[in-house]
Amino acid sequence: MSISIEEMATFCKRKGFVYQSAEVYGGIAGFFDFGPLGVELKNNIKQQWWKTFVQQRPDIAGIDGSIVTHPAVWKASGHVDNFEDVLVEDTKTKERYRADILIEDALKISTSGMKKEELWELIQKHKLKSPNGNSLLEPKQFNLMFSTNVGPVDGSISYLRPETAQLMFADFKLVMENARLKLPCGIAQVGKAFRNEISPRDFLFRMREFEQMEIEYFVHPDKLTECPFIDEVSDHELLIYTEEMQKHNKEPHKYTVKEALAKKIIKNPWHGYWLAIIHRWFVFLGAKKENFRIRQHVKDELSHYASDTWDLEYKFPFGWKELQGVANRGDFDLQQHMKHSKTDMSVFDEETKKKVVPHVVCEPSQGVERTFLVFLFDAYEFDKQRENVVLHLHPLLAPTKVGVFPLVNKEPLMSKAQELVKEIGKEFTCAYDRSGTVGKRYARNDEQGTPFCITVDFEGMEDNTVTIRDRDTTKQARIPMEGIRNTIRELMDGASLESVGKLIKAQ
Ligand code: GAP
Repeated sequence: MSISIEEMATFCKRKGFVYQSAEVYGGIAGFFDFGPLGVELKNNIKQQWWKTFVQQRPDIAGIDGSIVTHPAVWKASGHVDNFEDVLVEDTKTKERYRADILIEDALKISTSGMKKEELWELIQKHKLKSPNGNSLLEPKQFNLMFSTNVGPVDGSISYLRPETAQLMFADFKLVMENARLKLPCGIAQVGKAFRNEISPRDFLFRMREFEQMEIEYFVHPDKLTECPFIDEVSDHELLIYTEEMQKHNKEPHKYTVKEALAKKIIKNPWHGYWLAIIHRWFVFLGAKKENFRIRQHVKDELSHYASDTWDLEYKFPFGWKELQGVANRGDFDLQQHMKHSKTDMSVFDEETKKKVVPHVVCEPSQGVERTFLVFLFDAYEFDKQRENVVLHLHPLLAPTKVGVFPLVNKEPLMSKAQELVKEIGKEFTCAYDRSGTVGKRYARNDEQGTPFCITVDFEGMEDNTVTIRDRDTTKQARIPMEGIRNTIRELMDGASLESVGKLIKAQ
């Protein structure tokens, strides 16, 4: 990784991936707008996730729940009472900061799981000041949920969801019946979540409005450790950082899933399974294997609903940070919703002929924007030879798959190039580019991650061919115009330029 998070934010703005929201009015902290390339990349990430974890799996069904959710849902889930961070206030400016982050920044220690009183003790002991150099008031709890009024009635408070998870619990019975799911099985959702973060920061890493890709995976309460898919990932290697290692200041260690389970480093095979398949998903889509590790939450750090949580972490330029949390929520949520809604959410088990309340031993919960950053960081390279940034995004994620240029802005090259854009555009995002030299167009497309560039030239008008250039190798080949969509499809599936055309000297 070669650039900082601030440099990444600058790059994203310059290329049209991400802007500060409403920048003309000075922006608003924790909110961002996705530009023309950003919206494509973000949609591709969500589409790939949905395809892998929902559409290709008979055991998982999807929903799209409402953002403003019935307030009773958040009372039952515990968010109204517990979804809090600790803030401290600058005595002079009245600016507020997250106490744990302020301490971690100043003392370079972990404050994982520390309570308000312990944070205050540290602030007093080390005489910590606000970033403006002023003294701080005693910390307070702060609830992170955004509330709103529903309809023209004052006091009809409801909340914008702080996680997508809860409607997967509240709708559990309906989805089970409609999708005819049988345990073990899951419900998935991708969508917006809102948290009134005290200190949004690090660009897209900690936002107030963001998206999540979440799965609630339900298992039979008597079969909490029976994972029928575990063999698929036994040999998958993970860099593991257990609670024990953290307590005794030991370094993380690499184990295969099989070894980690045998040594009881990971206790429940479901955790091994989910962490491995998510890691595999990232690597398949071009992320660098070595930039990931899994870290177990220490006891005091666990959320109010969780009994064991493992995070998939990524080595961001500002340190190892959470990308995805995989919590064991047990039957906490279904029990809470049964109690508060007075609705039976148990399911009938054919084997024992008994009704059971399933457990969620794993809730893989991944942030879309953090995932977006991972793919950008791992794709970003300043190529010294080209004197240009090259974004090596996987073709499936690249915002534009093909750039098409006329060699010079003359007919019939321009019309032919536009014809090709129409044809390729039936299946792949494709852009026509006629500004600047061909070299400049290649450079522009390298920077925005376009894997293939096609140039229409006079030679090709004679024999019905075009040249095609590969972003990563800069190799070029001459390929027939006929069947060009099939050729692009083969290249997207990993075929080499040599296998689809005749290599030529770079033009
Ligand atoms: N339903 C469980 C849940 O929401 P979480 O650990 O609070 O768990 C899951 O959030 C994921 O959502 C995180 O791993 C992170 O990727 C993303 N996320 C959480 N808060 C975020 C924020 N303020 N900005 C961006 N992403 C966030």
